[in-house]
Amino acid sequence: MRIVYVVGTRPNFVKTAPVIGALRSRLPDGRHAIVHTGQHYDRLMSEVFLEELGVPAPDHMLEVGSGSHALQTARTMERLEPVLLEERPDLVVVPGDVNSTLAAVLTAVKMGIPVAHVESGLRSFDLTMPEEVNRIVADRFSRDLFIHSEEAIGNLRAEGIAEERIHFVGNTMIDTLAALEGRFREVGMARRLGLEPGSYALITLHRPALVDGPLLAETVTQLAALASEMPVVFPVHPRTRKMMESLDAEHPGLSLIDPLGYLDFLSLLAEAGAVLTDSGGIQEETTYLGIPCFTLRDNTERPVTISAGTNTLLGLDPAAIAGIPAALAARGDAPSEPPPLWDGHAAERIADVVVAGA
Ligand code: UD1
Repeated sequence: MRIVYVVGTRPNFVKTAPVIGALRSRLPDGRHAIVHTGQHYDRLMSEVFLEELGVPAPDHMLEVGSGSHALQTARTMERLEPVLLEERPDLVVVPGDVNSTLAAVLTAVKMGIPVAHVESGLRSFDLTMPEEVNRIVADRFSRDLFIHSEEAIGNLRAEGIAEERIHFVGNTMIDTLAALEGRFREVGMARRLGLEPGSYALITLHRPALVDGPLLAETVTQLAALASEMPVVFPVHPRTRKMMESLDAEHPGLSLIDPLGYLDFLSLLAEAGAVLTDSGGIQEETTYLGIPCFTLRDNTERPVTISAGTNTLLGLDPAAIAGIPAALAARGDAPSEPPPLWDGHAAERIADVVVAGA
């Protein structure tokens, strides 16, 4: 069997690494070719992750880089097509909901190549989010839909997707986290940054709805106020960094640091007192780790993180950041349990399905 894995962004690497590992060990004589689209290209956003996750060096680098959505998608399609012609895969595996995902699905389906979509069926029901458009297209045109939570079944059914395409396998991002838990627990990133474990708020923000407009300045003001109540550490995504520089704002009390490698980031996450984010993956990782998470968005495509008791939707409203210390005090040490099949074995279940269909 010949498989091509298409990845392009930081979270893609995390979601795909265990799938590549499981399929390589189940199909040792198969061809397993990795295509890196280059949507993320900074060393801290890309190579560091691949190295830490033990992903083999990509076989094909498309070097697509940044640009408008149309440009990024079109460039990926144009550069991926000859790779797929050369590789002649029986299956293309794509994770997540980024522009690389959209481009890979469209390219493969137009060449008549079946696609397996990892992390299928998530819906925010907000079509202004670029990722929502990418998710809907990816699920409509992929053959095998691997879902990580039960609510995805209803979302896909409502779009008329046949049951036999849907496979509830669990969360491959959590496979990676669980596999590396022994290692990141040793890192002690908080103490290296001079922070007391359990005492600080960890911030990540990168979505256009928040960082590309006036809400960013208000958010920085609120974070500075939060920093007077608890230490605040903020590894800044390159997109956000660029927007913050154009703001020319002061950041009193905020510890702004470069994006972290995966092990360093998980170490900081696992020891945080609270997390404030607009990321999808971090809502999931905090749920697995039992860390209180506050999501600065109006909606989430991951409601299972809310029912699990760890995640709170603040709304797309920087003023709500002021309520975090009181919410933490009221919450206490509420116990939480990871959702079903977030158990470190999702990729093996994906491999079972792929091998059975081979
Ligand atoms: C993308 C995904 C988002 C995902 C996020 C994970 C889409 C539509 N968005 O958002 O769903 O949550 O990745 O991080 O696919 N940049 C760099 N170096 C890099 C990468 C980006 O400097 O290695 C800067 C560039 O200025 C670029 C901007 O960040 O223009 C945005 O990058 P882009 O890949 O377009 O989207 P993300 O915001 O990273």
